Amino acid sequence: MELEDELGDILGKARDGKGWTQADLAKSAGLSVGDIARIENYEWTPEEKVIFKIADVLDLHGPSLSAIAGEKWAPEEETPDPGPFNIVCINVLMGLYPVKCYLLICRETRATAVVDTGGNPETIIKKARDLGVKPEKILLTHTHPDHAGGLGQLTREFGCPTWVDKIEPRPSGSRDLRMIEDDDTITLGKLNIEPVATRGHTPGGISYKINESVFSGDAIFAGSMGRANASWSGLFESVTQNLLTLPDKTRLYPGHGPATTVGEEKQHNPFFCDKVFQ
Ligand SMILES: [Fe+2]
Repeated sequence: MELEDELGDILGKARDGKGWTQADLAKSAGLSVGDIARIENYEWTPEEKVIFKIADVLDLHGPSLSAIAGEKWAPEEETPDPGPFNIVCINVLMGLYPVKCYLLICRETRATAVVDTGGNPETIIKKARDLGVKPEKILLTHTHPDHAGGLGQLTREFGCPTWVDKIEPRPSGSRDLRMIEDDDTITLGKLNIEPVATRGHTPGGISYKINESVFSGDAIFAGSMGRANASWSGLFESVTQNLLTLPDKTRLYPGHGPATTVGEEKQHNPFFCDKVFQ
């Protein structure tokens, strides 16, 4: 599966972290503004020496950035979590843009949660029907429209409450919102789900950890990070301190792009390689 972000996206996000314009990056890397624009517009993939120079000035990991630029790395296909539950990934389209939503199903009780609604959740409703489950909880990683726009429709369909971080902008469409407080645990059948703060993409972005798996929304992608709409340093810190300190085998299920693991991202993500201190 294609990565969510290409070289151009990664450069743009890394520039954001430094507060740099394209001109600032061009000057630091010894390139022209036109060169940077062409890279960020996916029109030019420079030679390795140039990529390493750009990585160096942007505090990115050169070999990882070069591997992604050359389409030489993608995470290994994930192995199923050994816990007593099933994870069903559903691609929900918003226009042409796919968002990954998930059904989490307790094997023993069939209790089910939906992680993110997508904008047009018909495919979630159909999948739940096909599987013979009726979700009893909706867990939102954040409330951007591509992740939470279908909340009204899913709430009408399933009549269930929705969990969201207490400082995240309130989504519309649910009359039964449960605000996640620090140290909350969410129960689903025989399962315990642990919210993990991953703020920065949005003010109250949150991930949900169950056993060896984390639904991480738009905090981190395979080979990249989310756009830091609320706080770049906050997002960077929450990923390095709250996600990438988990055991290497921990599976990460993001809102876009392929699933990955903590170990893969510590080795191959240009933003985080060599930046995780336990
Ligand atoms: Fe988002």
